[in-house]
Amino acid sequence: MEEKKIVLIGANGMLAGAVKRLVPVGYKVHAYDLPEFDLTDSGQVFSLRTLKPEIILNCAAYTNVDGCESQRELAMQVNGEGPGFLAELAKDIDALLVHVSTDFVFAGDKKEPYREDDPTGPLSVYGQSKLLGEQRIIESGLEKYFIVRTSWLYGQGGNNFVETMIRLAKERTELKVVDDQRGTPTWTDDLAAAIFKLLALVAAPHVSPRTPHRPYGIYHFSNEGQCSWYQFAAEIIAQARHSESLKVENILPIPTEGYPLPAQRPKYSVMSKEKYKAATGMQVPEWRESLRKYIENRIKSQVLRFKM
Ligand SMILES: NC(=O)c1ccc[n+]([C@@H]2O[C@H](COP(=O)([O-])OP(=O)(O)OC[C@H]3O[C@@H](n4cnc5c(N)ncnc54)[C@H](OP(=O)(O)O)[C@@H]3O)[C@@H](O)[C@H]2O)c1
Repeated sequence: MEEKKIVLIGANGMLAGAVKRLVPVGYKVHAYDLPEFDLTDSGQVFSLRTLKPEIILNCAAYTNVDGCESQRELAMQVNGEGPGFLAELAKDIDALLVHVSTDFVFAGDKKEPYREDDPTGPLSVYGQSKLLGEQRIIESGLEKYFIVRTSWLYGQGGNNFVETMIRLAKERTELKVVDDQRGTPTWTDDLAAAIFKLLALVAAPHVSPRTPHRPYGIYHFSNEGQCSWYQFAAEIIAQARHSESLKVENILPIPTEGYPLPAQRPKYSVMSKEKYKAATGMQVPEWRESLRKYIENRIKSQVLRFKM
């Protein structure tokens, strides 16, 4: 069987790391990232034509949510215009584009999980720039695309909330964490696996009788369940205590106003995974269970590093 070529943009990032580790047989990944490859340089993007990839997977983004507030132009270029260039390239070479987006495209005023066709209303420059990226792809007229919105990502090799909480819990006796923003944590390994499940719909559309004839479009994927940042932090610390020596004694819930940041976040950004589940026939792992696996894995990799 000939391998399908995946051009992976943002290949040194946290999600891309999981994609590279979990790539199934039958795909070959070609990795691109800064500083050699800049998504905002249309000439560089179009030069990928000669490689003729079947799949373009965009994990690149300017992900510093607060940094985006003071770097609006850069955010719009990387998160907005860049995906548009990728869509033009995909159309030109008949490739499938997979683009990763965010729950921060929503305003957060709903009381039940956001569906793919719910109105957007980003509160931050980051959210606006990611929405622009979605719009550029849709406006391009490209038919073969998956836009996968996800939330609260953590995973191996990334600066993420789980690592921050474990670090702070080793340094301090008390932590204060925001309790009035609700969402769903997502392990990068589960998201990478979900992306490959979506790709499999196209490779073998007969796999599930539920699979729509044209499965393309927007999908939501996070882990199952929901929590506040405070509840997430409490769970991280409860789980990490089994393997780490932590100093923290108190974790206190605080309102958003108690921890002011440049970018406004949605109060509620839980997403419905019904469309993904119906299309793939897959179940979605619950967030505490995935957190447990992540924490187990990081201990195993620490033990391995120690032995080497
Ligand atoms: N992290 C989250 O909590 C979260 C939540 C929801 C959605 N998402 C989305 O999920 C996706 C993956 O996120 P992540 O956390 O894995 O991101 P990440 O770790 O920040 O990785 C992004 C990668 O893109 C690269 N990049 C930035 N600008 C680029 C450019 N102009 N050209 C080429 N590459 C560029 C970065 O390089 P440098 O490091 O050198 O800048 C980095 O290697 C993104 O689309 C993000 O918006 C993330």
